[in-house]
Amino acid sequence: MAKVEMTPDRLMYPRPALLVGANVDGKANFMAVGGGGVANAEPPMIAVLIRHHCHTLKGVLQNLTFSVNTPSVDLVREVDFCGITSGAKVDKVKICKFKVFYGNLKTAPLIEQCPVNLECKVVHILNLGTHSFIIGEVKGTYVSEDCLDLPPKAVPLQNLTFSVNTPSVDLVREVDFCGITSGAKVDKVKICKFKVFYGNLKTAPLIEQCPVNLECRVMHILNLGTHSFIIGEVKGTYVSDDCLTNGKPDVKKIKPIVFNLESSEYYAFGEVIAKSHSIGRELKAKE
Ligand SMILES: Cc1cc2nc3c(=O)[nH]c(=O)nc-3n(C[C@H](O)[C@H](O)[C@H](O)COP(=O)(O)O)c2cc1C
Repeated sequence: MAKVEMTPDRLMYPRPALLVGANVDGKANFMAVGGGGVANAEPPMIAVLIRHHCHTLKGVLQNLTFSVNTPSVDLVREVDFCGITSGAKVDKVKICKFKVFYGNLKTAPLIEQCPVNLECKVVHILNLGTHSFIIGEVKGTYVSEDCLDLPPKAVPLQNLTFSVNTPSVDLVREVDFCGITSGAKVDKVKICKFKVFYGNLKTAPLIEQCPVNLECRVMHILNLGTHSFIIGEVKGTYVSDDCLTNGKPDVKKIKPIVFNLESSEYYAFGEVIAKSHSIGRELKAKE
């Protein structure tokens, strides 16, 4: 493979697009920084490269603290603006409508709109020529809640329990209603006239009209992207007594609903077509 020798340059990819902040004469200011990276693991340190004339550098030297804010793509205009104007002349916080907050260090301004914020204490400054290479120890790390890979708060973090209720065909209207309306807006229990009871867990509501009810304790929640995949340990199982035959749940009496996603239709449970663990024996002879 042929190689072309270039003039020595800082060809390292990818470069971040960060907003580095400092209080200059007590006032928050931010500049765009592409020259930055990780410096040390324990204690956690990062490094930023700042030209000597930058207004932000003045603040870094005044307080010996600074911040590193990671903007998301929707802040690209603001990032660029902070990279082409100087805080010595304009109030960038005001023009960019940045909401500034402070963490443990009190003097490193952080931008609320940026999903990730680090506040740092200066530990080394190296004058490398055109730029000062500033190494800071990370003293505070903040991440916007909606950027954390966590399941939605409301359900699991309240009770960590849920119920699974099997309705019979005569509840098909209620099932459909519960699938097309949100409990955030309407009281589905009231509208569907569900009689709710609780089992051992006390916090998983069960529907009396449904012949089969399971109450579960959350074991795992996997955030798969569009959905949370929730695995529950069944802690209580209840079956309406009129749906039992010889003490066992009888599917003919339970009359569960079958849902066909492709046609958006509900079906009733079908006819028995064969006995399990039995019909397959007919092929055993051909083994
Ligand atoms: C994408 C981008 C990346 C930049 N990276 C750096 C950098 O790593 N170091 C630096 O000193 N200036 C960098 N700049 C330029 C400064 O952000 C710019 O000089 C700014 O006006 C300084 O603001 P201040 O005077 O308010 O501190 C960058 C500009 C842009 C647009």
